[in-house]
Amino acid sequence: MKKISVIFCVLWLSIGLTTAQNNSTQGAAGLGDSYFPDLGNGGYDAEHYTLDLTWDDITNKLDGTVTIRAKAYNDLTRFNLDFEGFTISNILVEGKNADYTREGRELEITPTIRLKQDETFEIVVSYSGVPGDNVAGYYDVFARGWTRYPNGVYVASEPDGAAYWYPVNDHPLDKATYTFKITVPDAYVVAANGQQQQVVDNPDPTTTYTWETRDEMASYLATVNIAKFKRVTTVGPHELPIRHYFPADQADSLTKTFADFPDMIAYYETVFGAYPFEAAGAVVADTRLSFALETQTLILFGKDVLVGQTDAETVIAHELAHQWFGDSVSLTQWKDVWLNEGFATYASMLWLEHSKGQNALVRQMNTYYTIIASQGTRYVPPGAPPKEDLFNEGVYLRGAWTLHALRLKVGDELFFKIMNTYYDRFKYGNTSTTDFISLATEISGEDLQPFLNQWLFDETVPAKPDQTFKP
Ligand code: TRP
Ligand code: ZN
Repeated sequence: MKKISVIFCVLWLSIGLTTAQNNSTQGAAGLGDSYFPDLGNGGYDAEHYTLDLTWDDITNKLDGTVTIRAKAYNDLTRFNLDFEGFTISNILVEGKNADYTREGRELEITPTIRLKQDETFEIVVSYSGVPGDNVAGYYDVFARGWTRYPNGVYVASEPDGAAYWYPVNDHPLDKATYTFKITVPDAYVVAANGQQQQVVDNPDPTTTYTWETRDEMASYLATVNIAKFKRVTTVGPHELPIRHYFPADQADSLTKTFADFPDMIAYYETVFGAYPFEAAGAVVADTRLSFALETQTLILFGKDVLVGQTDAETVIAHELAHQWFGDSVSLTQWKDVWLNEGFATYASMLWLEHSKGQNALVRQMNTYYTIIASQGTRYVPPGAPPKEDLFNEGVYLRGAWTLHALRLKVGDELFFKIMNTYYDRFKYGNTSTTDFISLATEISGEDLQPFLNQWLFDETVPAKPDQTFKP
């Protein structure tokens, strides 16, 4: 990872202390996330993953190897990865067979050699099996990682599903770059994050697709999609490559659904900053998912959230905004998920304002306010959602209202300066609610903590502010 926030240093320090108390050469089994203490692992930084996987369409079996290049934070005699399900045939560390044990999501690896502080090492895990077999329980039904549907495969893993399809340091604090080498029966097409580098038709009736990411990404944003797709290409601002993957028989109508996509990117660039990645686009799974996920550079949509839906444009604008907020600017802990969902929701309202006028924004924000204010405890304050209900609507709608209320309070000029300074300071890195509040206070020159705390944490929804916009 390139940028490290203050919070992360504090977290890292405390992990350092914990491991030091036990044995400084044993990597911790978690990264200290207050809601998900077992997610991720201490002692090393995963830098690059190469996922070399062969998929069988009849059985949905995966077979292959994952190679991880990592760097040790301190000398290591033992470390963990997150991985659940599958049969592991072999693990190599620096080319030598390593011992390992498995318990739930934790894969504990003991190499034959001592790994040296600050040195890079390579882990190769070979495994096979059907994703989901022998997995105890999921955080939620949408976050299962690799998922088969009648016409293909999609991968959606937020917040903890990555470990159900590849061995990983499964927390947004440890972002990494990826290479995907996915082998499928000849009839299928593969779309993953980043850019397609190579397509090789093998002697047997299979084809291997190689995709690679330029930038680091959080593990839950890694996606592989397999289906009989039609690839539709266009360009965005500054020649940004846009490649969509649509079910072949719906490519024409979906192309129309995404007609505004380049304009949305151009608009967000004017308010937040340059689009962060090397490519953009969408993949549409020809099945009913009832969700979309902001998978980096290749946003995953279920067909049902787009086809025949009047709010399809808002959903697209929401997911696209996540490329800035959520993907480039990542969380330090899952509890702060409003920094993803509240921001993406309000960004989609800004797009609405830009494309349809300020009245359209006000009307939609009024609807959101009525929802959050009238439903008792069903919609939680966004700053600390219950751990088992991270994606509560309150995180989205009251999270968006938090930003709207801030804008009405400080005026447009300062508000947009806060947004683009926040983006600029934390892009390609990690952030927290505290970081955002301090930055808003710094830019505006007034202590915004009490005000933002009310919107983020009070049990009762603050009174609706007068919606007159100040310059
Ligand atoms: N982040 C998604 C959104 O943009 C919602 C979501 C949370 C999700 N967990 C998921 C989607 C798991 C798919 C799978 O609103
Ligand atoms: Zn979202």
